[in-house]
Amino acid sequence: MRESGQDQLKVLIRNAAIQKRVREVAKQITRDFRGQRLHLVGVLKGACIFLSDLIRHIDLDTSIDFMSVASYGKGQRSSGEVRLLKDLDTSIEGMNVILVEDILDTGLTLSYLLRVLQQRKPKVLRVAALLDKPSRRLIKDVKADYLGFEIPNEFVVGYGLDYAERYRNLKDVCILSLPPE
Ligand code: IMP
Ligand code: MG
Repeated sequence: MRESGQDQLKVLIRNAAIQKRVREVAKQITRDFRGQRLHLVGVLKGACIFLSDLIRHIDLDTSIDFMSVASYGKGQRSSGEVRLLKDLDTSIEGMNVILVEDILDTGLTLSYLLRVLQQRKPKVLRVAALLDKPSRRLIKDVKADYLGFEIPNEFVVGYGLDYAERYRNLKDVCILSLPPE
């Protein structure tokens, strides 16, 4: 148990386990797109660490781009509202695209992004997510084609995931419990 101020952190997934799983996911992607080019689209900011580890284990001709959306405020609760803050730099028409997300929670963010990207006519559009909290899903038909870990309904931070922009630099994925308000 680590503490920062009044917040309590408990390790849920150790970095070594994350690294092992990321290598497996990268291998699967490499197999699925053998002989083809690949374009990874990272969802800022949470997915940046997952994406940067993932891409180094993908043995294909791979390019990257990023999008940024606002789906959460500064707290733990989903606002239910998704806004596009940063769009892609280049067209994805005719490309093999994998959208890379940190966590699939209610599914609101992902279903919005998939709708936006599908309109741009990629050849293939898939989703890679590090974490999935299936018990929280509001949009039933969104799923990750490539998934790191399914986790229980806990608020997690670390390995890119934040609480009010903090804790992204933790190596492990940790459960965060906040002091009562
Ligand atoms: P969704 O739209 O509810 O699926 O939420 C997706 C986004 O919410 C993720 O990309 C995260 O930025 C954020 N999020 C959801 N659950 C957590 C969590 O447990 N910790 C940190 N961020 C989270
Ligand atoms: Mg995010």
